[in-house]
Amino acid sequence: MSHTCRIELDGKSHDFPVVEGVENELAIDISVLRDRTGYITLDDGYGNTGSCTSAITYIDGDKGILRYRGIPIEQLAAHSSFVETAWLVIWGRLPTQDELSQFSSMLTRNEMMHESLRSHFQGFPPNAHPMAILSAMINAMSCYEPEMMEIEDESTMVRAAARLISKVRTVAAASYKMSIGQPMAYPHPEYHYCENFLHMMFSIPYREYIPTPEVTRALNLFLILHADHEQNCSTSTVRMVASSRANMFASCAAGVCALWGPLHGGANVAVIEMLDFIRNSGMNVAEYVSRVKARDSRLRLMGFGHRVYKNFDPRSKILKAAADEMLETLHVNDPLLDIARELEEVALKDSYFVERKLYPNVDFYSGIILRAMGIPLNMFTVMFAMGRMPGWIANWKEIHDDPKGRIYRPRQIYTGSPLQDYTPIEKR
Ligand code: CMC
Repeated sequence: MSHTCRIELDGKSHDFPVVEGVENELAIDISVLRDRTGYITLDDGYGNTGSCTSAITYIDGDKGILRYRGIPIEQLAAHSSFVETAWLVIWGRLPTQDELSQFSSMLTRNEMMHESLRSHFQGFPPNAHPMAILSAMINAMSCYEPEMMEIEDESTMVRAAARLISKVRTVAAASYKMSIGQPMAYPHPEYHYCENFLHMMFSIPYREYIPTPEVTRALNLFLILHADHEQNCSTSTVRMVASSRANMFASCAAGVCALWGPLHGGANVAVIEMLDFIRNSGMNVAEYVSRVKARDSRLRLMGFGHRVYKNFDPRSKILKAAADEMLETLHVNDPLLDIARELEEVALKDSYFVERKLYPNVDFYSGIILRAMGIPLNMFTVMFAMGRMPGWIANWKEIHDDPKGRIYRPRQIYTGSPLQDYTPIEKR
C-alpha cells in the first residue's frame, strides 16, 4: 500500500511520501521539506525521528520484540554463540560452518595487542576509568592498522571487524589489570572468545584462572543480548561519525564515549549503585520508590524505562531467568538480587510506572550476572561495549557501503541573542 502525507503550511498543501518498513512501520519522508517549504522539523531527543533505514535490527517496543537480521533474540540466546551472532549482525545472515571457523580463527590470530600499544597504558593514572582507556585505546589501535583505515573490499572489511572485535577484549581485560596493578595476561590461543576474556581478566602469573562452563555461558549470553539495538545513543553516534567517512576504529571509539553515560550503557553500574544504596541505607524498597516518584531530585529508578520498549524489554526477561539460574548453580547468595526482585514487584504495581509504561530494561538484571561472574563494577559498561561492538561495526558498514550516503548534519532552531555589534574590551 502506498501512502502520502499532506501537510498544510501557510495556506499551501504539500505531499510527502510515506515509507513503509518490512514490518509495516511507517515514516513520513520529509527529506525535501525545507527545500519545498522553508520549514524544518523540531524533535527534541529525536523521539519521532527516523535517522536512517537499516536492515540490521528490528524492535517492536509495544510488543517487546527484538530481532537481529530477522531472528528473534530468544532463539539466539538459546542456541547461538557471541561469535556467530556477531557474524550474523555484521553480514546479515547466519555463517556456514566454514565461515564461522574461519572467523573464529581470525579472532584468535588477532587477539594480541601490538607490544608498543601496551606501553600506552602507562600513560593513564592507576584509577583511570576503563571506559576512558577503552575509547582511547581503540583510537590508538587504528594507528597500528593503517591498512584498515580505508576499507575497499570485503576481505579487508572481515579482517578489520575481526581485529576490532578480538582486540577490544584484550584491551578491556588489560585496562582492568592495569587498574588493579597486576601484570596483563596474554591471550590464550586455545581458548574461545568468552573463555579467553575471562582468562585475561582473572589469571595471574603462575595461577591460571580456568573459567567454568556456567560463567562462560553467562558471558556468552550477556554479549549476545547486547550485540545490537538499532538507533540508540551510541549506535547513532557511530553512524554520525561514520557519515563523515571516519574510519571504523574512530567511529567505534566515539560509540564507547556515548555509551559511557548513566542514561545509556552506564545504567548497569547505576543499577548496582542504587541497589547497594538501598541495602546500606536501611531504607525499604517502597520508601525508595516513593523518593523516585516525589521527583524532588533527578532520582530515577535505574534499569527502568526505555525510549522504545513500552511493554517489556525482552532482554531483561532472559537476563532475569539467567540470573536466577546462575546464582543457584554457583550457590551465590546475592542480597542485591532480592532487592532487585522486590523493587521490580513494587514498581510494576505502582501507577506512576504503569502509566508511564516503565518496565525493567536490559540493565536491571545484567549487573547481578556480572557480579556473580566476578566482574568489578567499573568494568560493567566496558562489558556492554564489548557486546555492542558487532552492532557498531554493522552500522558503520551500512553507512560505508551506501553509495548515496550523505554526511549526518541536523539543523537547529536558533534561540540565542539577535544580531549585536562587537564591543571593544575597554568598553565592556
Ligand atoms: N525512573 C523514574 N521515572 C522515569 C524513569 C525512571 N527510570 N524513566 C522515565 N521516567 C519518567 C520521566 O520522568 C518522565 O515522566 P514525566 O512524563 O512525568 O515527565 C517519563 O517517565 C518519560 O521519561 P523520559 O525521560 O521522557 O523518557 P526517555 O525515553 O527520554 O528516556 C530512559 C528513556 C531510558 C533514558 C529513561 O527511562 C531513564 O532514564 N531510565 C533510567 C536509566 C536507564 O535504565 N537507562 C538504560 C536504558 S536501556 C539500555 C541502554 O539503552 O543503554
